Amino acid sequence: MCSIIGCIHKNAHVDVANMLVESMGKMEYRGYDSVGIATLDNNEILLKKGVGRVSIVNQELSLTELKGNIGIGHTRWATHGSVTQQNAHPHVCVRSEISVVHNGIIENYLDLRNELKSHGVVFKSETDSEVIPNLLSLILNEKNEIKDAIIKTISKLTGQYSFIAMLKDKSLIGVKNHEPLILGLGSDGYFLSSDILGFSKYVDKVIYLDDGQFVIVNSNGYSIYDFKGNPVKLIPIKILKLVKNIEKGNYEHFTIKEINEQRTTILQAGTKSLDEFKTFFNILKNSNRIYITGSGTSYHSALVAKYLFPKIAGRSIEPIMSSEMRFFEDCFDEQSTLIAISQSGESADVLNAVALAKEKNARILSIVNTTTSSLVKASDSFIGLNCGYEVGVAATKSFTSQLTILYRLLEKFDPAQKISSQLNLVVGAISKILDNQKYIIDICNVLKDVNHLYILGRGVHYPIAKEGALKIKELSYIHAEGIATGEIKHGPLALMDESTYVIMINPKDNTSTYTDNLSNASEIKSRGAKIIGLSNEYDQIYDYWLPLPDVPKIFYPIIETIPFQLMAYYLSIKRDNDPDYPRNLAKCVTVK
Ligand code: BG6
Repeated sequence: MCSIIGCIHKNAHVDVANMLVESMGKMEYRGYDSVGIATLDNNEILLKKGVGRVSIVNQELSLTELKGNIGIGHTRWATHGSVTQQNAHPHVCVRSEISVVHNGIIENYLDLRNELKSHGVVFKSETDSEVIPNLLSLILNEKNEIKDAIIKTISKLTGQYSFIAMLKDKSLIGVKNHEPLILGLGSDGYFLSSDILGFSKYVDKVIYLDDGQFVIVNSNGYSIYDFKGNPVKLIPIKILKLVKNIEKGNYEHFTIKEINEQRTTILQAGTKSLDEFKTFFNILKNSNRIYITGSGTSYHSALVAKYLFPKIAGRSIEPIMSSEMRFFEDCFDEQSTLIAISQSGESADVLNAVALAKEKNARILSIVNTTTSSLVKASDSFIGLNCGYEVGVAATKSFTSQLTILYRLLEKFDPAQKISSQLNLVVGAISKILDNQKYIIDICNVLKDVNHLYILGRGVHYPIAKEGALKIKELSYIHAEGIATGEIKHGPLALMDESTYVIMINPKDNTSTYTDNLSNASEIKSRGAKIIGLSNEYDQIYDYWLPLPDVPKIFYPIIETIPFQLMAYYLSIKRDNDPDYPRNLAKCVTVK
């Protein structure tokens, strides 16, 4: 998914290119393989775009020097067409009168391309997006008013998308159809953006457009309509100071800043939604079947719940990967409940999974960080992570906040667990790990040139093995695999030899698990592999020991995650990757 931005300054002599480029820099985590902007000056569209991050392309092409008090911008995560200058956005129609930035997918673009070719349109790119400006321009030139032309254009597009079109009459058109789009109201002008971060510095109030709506904006104001053309009134809401300036502070990267913020975010987790825990508890108690879903790191939180719920709540809970939900839709009915976990609340797979369960009248509960997101709008009740904005593409603080909220929820089922009153012990242990990073940095010096890495865990530690592997894959590009320890002898052991490193998650939290892991470690070691023990207890079987502080055993899944986050970060640095913007990834994937 990409980020799209549009801006009109009320003062015709103020150029907006600078603001556009700064905003795109803030939203780059949404996609960063190529970028571009277009402005309108003296009735002419000025366009500059290139391959690479915003700062790089701006250096090469001086994007900020474009003239004009109206403009649009884009940062790309390629879906259709390779990463080239031609395929970068904005795209301009063949009549050079309409330019467009687009996020999402136009599923019927091939048919539309053929139809437009029959009207003489010559396409410059391989993208699906380029059909939008050409279709709008064609319809506009068939003597249609702008509003009617937009409605006709939208009626011909299929897929989930949002786009911003800039017209020569100095207006911006923003269209929202299942991809984020927010209108920003500032004293000096108007913004349209995929993400509030894009313009938070310049506006005080925002309007969250709903799906099936479009807005026409010019320097005098804006009008919102539904896709049938009926006027829509939406109330502007004040944006939180907190969102106003998200900076790295003294940290070199957002990722390491957000890892360190876990000293506080764990205690804050869910504290702005305390009443909702009761709502969740009552709904879950009265549900015949409980399912839980998510993507990426959020799915690993769902897996942790699978192990904790039977033990503490006496209820089974079935995790289903959001992207696989279509194969389980028949599991749902009015007696079932789906818990959806998502940091962004905008992942298309999660939203589609929720839509499928809702069609079967299941109850929807969500655990989410962005409380203004589409997921919150689709839920019967939600609990906010309350961990602040997460910019680093690899999820860190959001994961441990998700786990903490699951623990707090379980406390509703069994107050004797005394979860909330012991969280300070968890924070104490995490601080110890963050204050003694030497062990982790040393092990990264050992691992920085490996191509494969295996992470083993039993029981509730198995999902953490998968999460650890995901972090290392995302940031270091090392092929890391999380495996249930007991499964190693049923196949993966074949991969073990003198060049292999295995991290064994093995806190002394359950005697039989602990000793079984040690026997498996010795089986692996006898094939020549090196064992890295992540445990609160040293054992001579380990070639390397990563000490874990002692905590009440129920909390080990939270604290044992931190070493993996740090390992992924330092391996990324040692392999000259950018930990905040790993290749080929994006912070939230709004396409299927
Ligand atoms: C990916 C992110 O795009 O989406 C991961 O890079 C994240 O870090 C996953 O875990 C799911 O995102 P979300 O916002 O639904 O939790």
